[in-house]
Amino acid sequence: MSPVPSASGSGPFGVGVIGCGNISKQYLQNLTSFPDVQVVICADIDATRAKAQAAAYGVPEWGSAADALGHRDVQLIVNLTIPVSHAEVTAAAIAAGKHVWSEKPLTHDVAAGRALLSQADAAGVRVGCAPDTVLGAGLQTARRLIDSGVIGTPLSALTLLQGPGPQSWHPDPEFLFAPGAGPLFDLGPYYLSVLATLFGPARQVAAIGRRPSESRVIGSGPRAGTAFDVAVPTYVAALAEYVGGQAASLLFSWDSPLSRSGFVEITGTEATLAVPDPNRFDGDIRIRRAGDDDWTVIPAEGAAAGRGTGVVDMVRAIRAGARHRASGEMALHVLEMMTAIERSAVSAAFEPVESRFEAPAPLDTRWDPYVAAQ
Ligand SMILES: NC(=O)c1ccc[n+]([C@@H]2O[C@H](COP(=O)([O-])OP(=O)(O)OC[C@H]3O[C@@H](n4cnc5c(N)ncnc54)[C@H](O)[C@@H]3O)[C@@H](O)[C@H]2O)c1
Repeated sequence: MSPVPSASGSGPFGVGVIGCGNISKQYLQNLTSFPDVQVVICADIDATRAKAQAAAYGVPEWGSAADALGHRDVQLIVNLTIPVSHAEVTAAAIAAGKHVWSEKPLTHDVAAGRALLSQADAAGVRVGCAPDTVLGAGLQTARRLIDSGVIGTPLSALTLLQGPGPQSWHPDPEFLFAPGAGPLFDLGPYYLSVLATLFGPARQVAAIGRRPSESRVIGSGPRAGTAFDVAVPTYVAALAEYVGGQAASLLFSWDSPLSRSGFVEITGTEATLAVPDPNRFDGDIRIRRAGDDDWTVIPAEGAAAGRGTGVVDMVRAIRAGARHRASGEMALHVLEMMTAIERSAVSAAFEPVESRFEAPAPLDTRWDPYVAAQ
């Protein structure tokens, strides 16, 4: 077994995972393979899940959230609970003096998100937040290419996510059509975080929202055929204007028989760059310059290790006294953009976005979560 994590500056950083559901498999698989962290406890309100995941991934202890929060060897909590529990679990972790990595969204409510970041500042701990796909090889390569000037001055972005919606395949899809969800809140964080990484903060947004049907029918699983209510817009077309002057057109739709997703193009004065799917860590980049008849493929360079990459970047940044990249401030900004888009779909007016964050520096191509930091 690995050594007990040290609270000082050396040895693996002690991690407690709270929330041992679906996505915990990917996190535990990766976090138990990264040498800079050591998962010391798996926790869940459902003890059988915590015990099963601890056994499956060789984690020495399992228990309740309180057990993880009170654990002396835990320095950072990875919060993989459901969105309605994010704020409560993150606040409790900060109160226990732990750094926190949270799954998206940071919270459902901008005021609660701001309160969490102030609480963390006062306690001297860090908050980081998914998606860390923005740290994957695909999007980091795109970031480095744009920084190097290959598309000239970046002017605009076009993103597209459309399909029939998750009721066709998800056995319990109700929560995805409830307030705080829909295509905007469920998948918007991926697309908006890419643009935040490439353009920095936005200053205002506008949107049209549509809800063509007030109920849908579950398409698979034991409850197939059951109708349920749709409470949120299932078609959201948004515009965003960035502080740097760039403009973006974004479509989030679960009202299309045709499925297309992962489409993100950045157009500059000299070329258009097609960025890989923002819900993935890898993928080629394609470029088309003025006068080109076709796209030229540029392979992605760097680590594409998967979920948990942001935790390693955060741990290394804490130890180096540097900024971590998938920051709580960026996640709060993305949350504010989504709530402003939702408001604009009702008000039919541009809505301001006030929060700001510092766009993080790109990762070096040699950055590797599988090799211990020196
Ligand atoms: N499932 C995916 O493919 C996926 C992908 C990306 C991101 N996410 C995000 O990951 C998070 C978790 O999603 P999931 O699909 O794993 O959900 P899930 O329902 O499968 O698992 C959540 C777990 O958290 C536990 N939990 C809830 N509240 C708790 C609390 N207060 N204290 C302790 N444990 C608590 C539940 O018992 C459950 O085991 C969500 O924020 C989701 O948006 C999920």
